[in-house]
Amino acid sequence: MSMTRGDQDAPSRRPKFTPATLQQRKVSGTPITAITAYDYPTAKLVDGAGIDVILVGDSLGMAVLGYSDTLSVTMEDMLHHARAVRRGADSSMLIADMPYGSYHVSTDESLRNAIRFIKEAGVEAVKIEGGYERVNLVRAFTDAEIPVVGHIGLTPQSLHKMGGYKVQGRSIEALDALCDSALELEQAGAIAVVLEGMPLEVAARITSSLTIPTIGIGAGVHCDGQILVFHDIFNLTFTSPAKFVRRFGDAAQLFQHGLEQYRDEVLGRTFPQDSESYHLPQGVREELDNRVDAVTA
Ligand code: KIV
Repeated sequence: MSMTRGDQDAPSRRPKFTPATLQQRKVSGTPITAITAYDYPTAKLVDGAGIDVILVGDSLGMAVLGYSDTLSVTMEDMLHHARAVRRGADSSMLIADMPYGSYHVSTDESLRNAIRFIKEAGVEAVKIEGGYERVNLVRAFTDAEIPVVGHIGLTPQSLHKMGGYKVQGRSIEALDALCDSALELEQAGAIAVVLEGMPLEVAARITSSLTIPTIGIGAGVHCDGQILVFHDIFNLTFTSPAKFVRRFGDAAQLFQHGLEQYRDEVLGRTFPQDSESYHLPQGVREELDNRVDAVTA
């Protein structure tokens, strides 16, 4: 087969990251990279950077919708953003958060909502918050061919129950409860568990006791992978970051500077320049000039 110039220039596509790849990483010990995305351009950037997993997190409530917590986020919000991310994500595995209220009423309703993510947004897995209390749901989703990721520790949808965003698992009893929950989620069929806001010793214990991968956020270095919120790492939250957030760039400064420059150039009539403008064809221009001359003669 001859190679055309187009073939040479085509970007080499990474192999698709799947739930099976997730499991292989647990075995090989290569860390899993994950980050949130909420729209098409960020999905393109994340996928292009070779990140393994994209989570359409309900953190979009704060990051892009301006709410103070995740509790108001709806199924329609999540589906709308998940569809946009799907259009930008190619090789990264796509997981969507089920929002608060979408899996708390009954198993039937929860299943119907989870199926919507698969059918209408094309995600490869859904994530639900909670430990042993979600075991039946994890089993039901798994039986319905829906890969499900658990999420324990500091679970933002339990904001009121926790009495604030507090690090979890700080006592022996709490540590044991987290370890038990993680094991029960694994036994029920979860493909991975997110460990959020817990001492690194607890996360290390859970990670070594599970055969499915753990993905940590504010849970230390011993997890099988790490996840952060896109807007946190690029300084786009307009709040001070949590202890576990590392900034990998300053998009706010970049955008602010660009916007101020744009404003000044418009005010100073230095934008747009001639090269940034369309022109009439030569003949039409001459005809127009003659018409103007005739009118003014
Ligand atoms: O909503 C979210 O972004 C999450 C985290 C794990 C990052 O659930």
